[in-house]
Amino acid sequence: MNRLFFRFFLLVMLSITLATFAIYGAISWLFGDPLEQNAARQAAPQIFLLEQYIDKAPADEWLVRLNKVREVSHVKLELIPLQQALTRLPTKRHLALQSGAVVIDAANKSFLRRVDLHGEKYVGSEDDVVLAQDLPIDLALAIKMEALRYVIVALALLIPIALWSRAHWQGLQNLSKVADEFGNGKLSVRANIKKSASIYPLAEHINRMAGRIQTLLGAQQHLLNSVSHELRTPIARLEFGLELLRKAAPDSKVETRIDAMQEDLAELNSLVSELLNMAKLDQQKNMRMLPFELIAAVQNCLTGLSHELAQHEVIIRLEPGQTIIGEQGLLSRAIGNLLKNAAKYSERQIIISSKHTAEGFDIIVEDDGPGIPEAEREHIFEPFYRLDRSRDRATGGFGLGLSIARQALHQHGGQITINQSILGGARFVMHLPKACIELTVSQTEI
Ligand SMILES: Nc1ncnc2c1ncn2[C@@H]1O[C@H](COP(=O)(O)OP(=O)(O)OP(=O)(O)O)[C@@H](O)[C@H]1O
Ligand SMILES: [Mg+2]
Repeated sequence: MNRLFFRFFLLVMLSITLATFAIYGAISWLFGDPLEQNAARQAAPQIFLLEQYIDKAPADEWLVRLNKVREVSHVKLELIPLQQALTRLPTKRHLALQSGAVVIDAANKSFLRRVDLHGEKYVGSEDDVVLAQDLPIDLALAIKMEALRYVIVALALLIPIALWSRAHWQGLQNLSKVADEFGNGKLSVRANIKKSASIYPLAEHINRMAGRIQTLLGAQQHLLNSVSHELRTPIARLEFGLELLRKAAPDSKVETRIDAMQEDLAELNSLVSELLNMAKLDQQKNMRMLPFELIAAVQNCLTGLSHELAQHEVIIRLEPGQTIIGEQGLLSRAIGNLLKNAAKYSERQIIISSKHTAEGFDIIVEDDGPGIPEAEREHIFEPFYRLDRSRDRATGGFGLGLSIARQALHQHGGQITINQSILGGARFVMHLPKACIELTVSQTEI
């Protein structure tokens, strides 16, 4: 936001500078160079002396008066040939000099003027030019005055703009904070902006949108939760009914059928449990963030998956003694889901490693399986999304594991990303924020 303000400030300054040059150019073009006019004002006494004292002398006294003035004045007065005078001036000013006008050369603190046009002052005077040098012209002062004028104009513009826009920046910063927190899952957050603020209508729209999203998500979670709960009872009744049926089964064919139905029911049961877990995760508000040892938690997951991992080579490259601060159950669940997938989809090798990063701490699970095509990497976190249907049917599962893992990471302020492993398969990276590895005072006391 500050960068935005800085850019705006630069833009205003640039416009004022351009406007300054444009004004200077336009005034010079229409009314003559203001700096030159200033110099002419400063040289006015010497011009006055030339026009009113020297020029007013009778023809034969003209040179005498010029010499008198030379004696008493600190300004250097010289007579130079017209041709030499012309070489001192840019071409566009030649006409003015030739027509007998006083031509100011502000940069050299001098002015030039022909003695006369008809050679009346002395023999050859029409070919001579009076050159007055060392005039008391102080252009620096004139430039300073011009600069001061533009600085005052710039300040007069910038101060009200800054005051006016400050209120906007503050409001926008407030909105950006709200959007951040909302995006991080704090759905109850709302923008608190004064009614008189100019961005109040925008804040109102955002608040209304946030309210609607919160209601929709709440309703969706409630539905998921209720349906899953409601399914539990008929499933239990069906399990009970099948047990009774098995006792009354007339032959082994019917028994095999009942076995298959019981397997389906068990699958349905675990789906309902997973859905309930997901709903619980969404509703979880106050997590118990406690320190736990990463290696021990990973070892626990591996023990739980010993059957699935029996044929695999699992390489552990974790930082020894690394402590994580978080809800152990949730993070173990996420790591477990990634390991379970690696077990399901890899050929043989799985590596679990970790590393400190500028943002926090990464836990990485990678394997030598088929990997995940780039186009699918965003989708596979969606609930029930599975890749190659035929392959996935053979491996079993509901397509909920990754969405649960991602949710667990979000609850900790982290995220999961996917890329390609050097083993050839998928590489899942769990990014945990710094808060999950740095002990605060209250956590140390626990
Ligand atoms: N390590 C992996 N290698 C290749 N594909 C993977 C890997 N992990 C996940 N996938 C793909 O992503 C899909 C989604 O994974 P997810 O864990 O959400 O569901 P699942 O494993 O199929 O089922 P569940 O985890 O619910 O038992 C999987 O079906 C699979 O196609
Ligand atoms: Mg899975």
